[in-house]
Amino acid sequence: MSTLARLLRYVVPWWRDLAAALLFTFLFALFSGVTIGMILPFTQILFEGKIDVDTIREPAAEPSTLIPALAEWKEKLRAGFLGLFADEEPRRALAKVCAGVFVVFLLKGLFHYLHQILMITLQERVIKRIRDDLFLRIERLPIAYFERSRAGELISRVTNDVALVKDMVSVLFTEAIQNAMLLLVFAAVALFVSWPLALLSFVIFPVLALFTGKVSRRLRKYSTRFQEDMARITARLQETIAGIRIVKAFSMERFEQAKFEEATGGYLRSYLRFKRVAILASPIAEQLGVVGAILVLWAGGNRVLEGRGLEPEGFFLFLAAVLNMMQPIRKLSHVNTLVQQGLSAAARVFLVLDEEEEPRPEGGVRLREVRDEIRFENVSFRYDGGGGTSALEDVDIHVPAGTMVALVGPSGAGKSTLVDLLARFRDPTAGRITIDGTDVRAIDLGSLRGLMGIVTQEVVLFNDSVRDNIAYGRSDRSLEAIRAAAAAANADVFIEKMPQGYDTRIGDRGLRLSGGERQRLAIARAILKDPPILILDEATSSLDSESEALVQSAVENLVRNRTTLVIAHRLSTIRRADRIVVLERGRVVQQGTHEELLGRHGLYKRLFEMQFFPSAGGAGV
Ligand SMILES: Nc1ncnc2c1ncn2[C@@H]1O[C@H](COP(=O)(O)OP(=O)(O)OP(=O)(O)O)[C@@H](O)[C@H]1O
Ligand SMILES: [Mg+2]
Repeated sequence: MSTLARLLRYVVPWWRDLAAALLFTFLFALFSGVTIGMILPFTQILFEGKIDVDTIREPAAEPSTLIPALAEWKEKLRAGFLGLFADEEPRRALAKVCAGVFVVFLLKGLFHYLHQILMITLQERVIKRIRDDLFLRIERLPIAYFERSRAGELISRVTNDVALVKDMVSVLFTEAIQNAMLLLVFAAVALFVSWPLALLSFVIFPVLALFTGKVSRRLRKYSTRFQEDMARITARLQETIAGIRIVKAFSMERFEQAKFEEATGGYLRSYLRFKRVAILASPIAEQLGVVGAILVLWAGGNRVLEGRGLEPEGFFLFLAAVLNMMQPIRKLSHVNTLVQQGLSAAARVFLVLDEEEEPRPEGGVRLREVRDEIRFENVSFRYDGGGGTSALEDVDIHVPAGTMVALVGPSGAGKSTLVDLLARFRDPTAGRITIDGTDVRAIDLGSLRGLMGIVTQEVVLFNDSVRDNIAYGRSDRSLEAIRAAAAAANADVFIEKMPQGYDTRIGDRGLRLSGGERQRLAIARAILKDPPILILDEATSSLDSESEALVQSAVENLVRNRTTLVIAHRLSTIRRADRIVVLERGRVVQQGTHEELLGRHGLYKRLFEMQFFPSAGGAGV
């Protein structure tokens, strides 16, 4: 389906408003025609001292309309219109004309208002729906999509591109329709007065159309480029702000600055190239219009001088009509630019809307708890673009309900990948994962994730109050419950010391909190959710021993009575685990309890000695 047709589908629900708006536009255009029609009675009074209803003084040298059958109708219309103002007394006729001008402008203004209000409401509703659709789709895209594309580009889709679509919708629904109608009405007036002159004046249009058509293709191409460059700027900005600590720590300001300036430079070039063509397009179109007008002035003036079926009053009216056509023509040529720009933006928006969502099983099984076990059965996983090597290979793990299994292994062994599979952030390339015998792919996605509390390595906090961060997803919970969760997570003391306690806003991504405080907030969040399954990716960052102890006892409160899969870096967590699974390069190389594994020679023993007894040879943590 074409981009435009797809956009129009968004308008369908409001077709009644659209129809009413179209009617008002038509009435507005009609009354715009009447406003210039007022020239006729006015000039007649001035030139002849009275309104002359029935005669065209000069005998017509050519048929007065293109379609002879309309001639009588045309005369009636003219007589009827002039008759409205006819009066014995010239002054009273003049007064009638003045009153007429007042009324006609009033009506024109009223219809303009009604049309604008309806159309703008319509346009804003369409834009809201597109934005909402985009957000919904973005939320449902698989994690892999976000790894592929930059956040800045996605943000630019929702902000910049939608704004461009809005400009286009606005221009199409208000300016384009209105100006097209005005053009039609003025053209009708011109034809009404003198069709040969009118036809002559219309010769310029095909020339104009040819010109704009050629330019518009180029404009569309340039517009796509500068929009992409704009997205690049946003992306750079976003990356730098998100990583500002690292940028500063590595003194990379100049480097980031250079990358940013390269992006703004690219935008400058592509935008100027676009504007150079866009700016030139309008005056050239206007100049072409002026050439046409001159031709018409010449031909019409000659007709009046030779008395060939055109009175001076009629010619004034004709000129007014043609001059009034200029503005709509110019606006319409500008419409084209915006439409081209909007269409390429809309195409990018639809590209996101067409991205495939996370697979959600239809009518999936709903689970409330884990009765028996979670099983990884011969699970393998390979990342797209992972260079052909598997991140996980033939992994078999068994987590009985209510127990805690710790995953250990060197960096890159596949630990995070493994827990991602359980929450279905990704699906295994081979093998399957089951909860009480049900393949996770057959479980309703919301219900599956509802079973899990996930505490990630990097704590994610929102720029909101402490309270709302702990109650994320559980806004129904009372303050008491939130306090209790915070207490279990050893977070209550520091929260109460904050300026507004639980209502303190924690700043963008929680930057105002220490690492240990952030971890304890994340733990409180999981405790409040009270999930049957817990996935814990322990932070590798080292904390001072006091804060370490606080986090540690928070973790103990958290894992109690839950089926837990923990990526463990702390000795105390490892000791508590019912079983330890050692991963290396995507494979399970050892399994057992801490004591069993320490008794055997192998990776676990080596890792353990390296990590906890740095003097034994490793770098330590
Ligand atoms: N999004 C991704 N795309 C491609 N490859 C990835 C992606 N994420 C991880 N990998 C690769 O998969 C392998 C396993 O990564 P994973 O994050 O599971 O390791 P990990 O055991 O959690 O390591 P760490 O202890 O450092 O967190 C690594 O070789 C990594 O480079
Ligand atoms: Mg990891």
